[in-house]
Amino acid sequence: MRTTIKLAVIGYGNVGRGVMKAIDKNDDMELACILSRSPDRVKKELGANVPVFAADDFEALKKADVAILCGGSKDDLPVQGPFYAKHINTIDSYDNHSQALAYFTSMDETARNAGTVACVSIGWDPGTFSLERVLGNAFMPGAKTYGFYGTGPRGGLSMGHSDAIRQVEGVQDARQYTHAIPEAIEQVRSGENPELKPGDMHWRECFVVAKDGANTGAIENEIKNMSGYFAPYKTVVHFVSQEELDAKYAGFPHDGLVIGSGTTGDGNKALVEYRNTWDSNPEATANILVAHARAATRLAADGKSGAFTILDIPPAYLSPHSREELIGSFL
Ligand SMILES: NC(=O)c1ccc[n+]([C@@H]2O[C@H](COP(=O)([O-])OP(=O)(O)OC[C@H]3O[C@@H](n4cnc5c(N)ncnc54)[C@H](OP(=O)(O)O)[C@@H]3O)[C@@H](O)[C@H]2O)c1
Repeated sequence: MRTTIKLAVIGYGNVGRGVMKAIDKNDDMELACILSRSPDRVKKELGANVPVFAADDFEALKKADVAILCGGSKDDLPVQGPFYAKHINTIDSYDNHSQALAYFTSMDETARNAGTVACVSIGWDPGTFSLERVLGNAFMPGAKTYGFYGTGPRGGLSMGHSDAIRQVEGVQDARQYTHAIPEAIEQVRSGENPELKPGDMHWRECFVVAKDGANTGAIENEIKNMSGYFAPYKTVVHFVSQEELDAKYAGFPHDGLVIGSGTTGDGNKALVEYRNTWDSNPEATANILVAHARAATRLAADGKSGAFTILDIPPAYLSPHSREELIGSFL
């Protein structure tokens, strides 16, 4: 008999909403509770029948087997990760690549001491893309891996870059779409293994609503020269009304492509590609997080504790199917 995994959703934003929808799509998952720093906001959105509690309600948390941490990577997860991993198995989507090892180390220590399992930096990048980079490199020793984002005509919505534009003086609202440069993808696919700088691979398109009376020239200049975010790229800025932004640029589409390029034998070219296209980035991320809740309960049942990334987890642990079903239908 299949047992049901009871989930706590910690933090209710875009990914938290996605987790609620993902629970409905997985027969072996059930919502135990939502914990939020703003429970009144969440109760107002979801209604009285959904069990919503304050972020430090550990009595409510006891009803769950696994907590899916849906806070932001920048400020929330570095605090919330160790805080909750002391009490319960956790899954999070920490996505600051440069700090990923430090975050892993802090979660590993906390979870080992507490005897819990913490699946960290789960999602699509880091996440499934990390797995593809590692596989490409293992199967083609010395292979180079390339990542392209926003390969469709609309591009991919970058929430971090949109947030950065919203901090510019005179900006009321903004959304930023990243576009891969098709010629760069073709160059990689040809097996040339080119040296590509960030601006050779992507360009950035910004849709900006300026506040009444704001200096649009100054806004455009500040965006284009923002170091790290926009300065290395060709950047196009469109000023639009709030109505146009809301009507034409709603939702969270994103997509990406990982290409590993190397050789086999005496120089035969070898190429592997992995692509995903999401109409909703937070819902897709949530689906991956929820599959890892299954893996966390299985790792815990094996007596394991500590932190795990997607690279450490057997794919069969993510699946709702039995070994027989996996070998019969998926192998
Ligand atoms: N690894 C990957 O591939 C991947 C992909 C996508 C996203 N991510 C990560 O996922 C993280 C979460 O993304 P998100 O889009 O869900 O962020 P978000 O909507 O900003 O939510 C983050 C937190 O902010 C609080 N919040 C949300 N809406 C609020 C509101 N209206 N008023 C007050 N507080 C509010 C919630 O916490 P409370 O309920 O406690 O207030 C929520 O947990 C991102 O930081 C990113 O790092 C990773």
